[in-house]
Amino acid sequence: MRGIILSGGSGTRLRPLTKITSKQLLPIYNRPMIYYPLNTLVKAGIKEILIIVAPESAGDYLNLLGSGKEFGVKFTYEIQDHPEGLAQAFIIGENFIDREDVVMILGDNIFEDDVSDAIKSFKGGAKIFAKKVPDPERFGVVKFDKNMKVEKIAEKPQEHLSDYAVTGLYIYDHRVIQAAKEINPSARGELEIADVNNWFLAKGELEVAMVEEEWLDAGTFDSLLKAQNFAKEKLVAKMVI
Ligand code: TTP
Repeated sequence: MRGIILSGGSGTRLRPLTKITSKQLLPIYNRPMIYYPLNTLVKAGIKEILIIVAPESAGDYLNLLGSGKEFGVKFTYEIQDHPEGLAQAFIIGENFIDREDVVMILGDNIFEDDVSDAIKSFKGGAKIFAKKVPDPERFGVVKFDKNMKVEKIAEKPQEHLSDYAVTGLYIYDHRVIQAAKEINPSARGELEIADVNNWFLAKGELEVAMVEEEWLDAGTFDSLLKAQNFAKEKLVAKMVI
């Protein structure tokens, strides 16, 4: 299993904090934000990790994280020239993924769950992680039919489809590269991960697992503040990096 941390983007909702630095380098209590998703991968035993960053902050990431030796892993870096969508990660990461399975985590997502078992039990196709939240429309949303079978994944839908948001943790087999190449950019000009998930769903190969413990997306002022307090009170004591 290979790992990808997607850590580009523009961070416009956190301006001016993100005017001169990457969002995922901002502090969450006593560590840079990216340490939290990195911790999730390291804890799950992932040894080869691709970090995808925006061009203007590539040097900062290299200075902060280095080779990976300090964390017992090996880092590869790639640059995403423009933030053209989460699914672009699999095109940028094509050579890195090769024929392996891959777990991708977003650089601003903070998980309390230990995902080692979810990774070990992965048997191909796609496995995504949902969480019941009060504001699912900020995210991708999982629509279930009356038997709780997944009907579709909708990206930031305008109408209420369910309470289940798709979190920023995804596991795929290597066909994710093909999926990312086959989908078209959305109306907002991005390669949407929702379309990758629907690509696997259409083949009957999408599994939706539930996030049991806390999950935070630190992309807004309020969620950033919440993440800081949560990290201090609950997370840092359990971290391995
Ligand atoms: P978002 O939070 O949706 O986007 P953003 O980080 O650009 O922030 P804003 O909406 O405030 O402008 O992105 C989720 C995560 O994915 C975040 O860690 C950034 C990353 N990302 C990329 O690395 N490349 C991309 O093309 C996109 C869209 C996001």
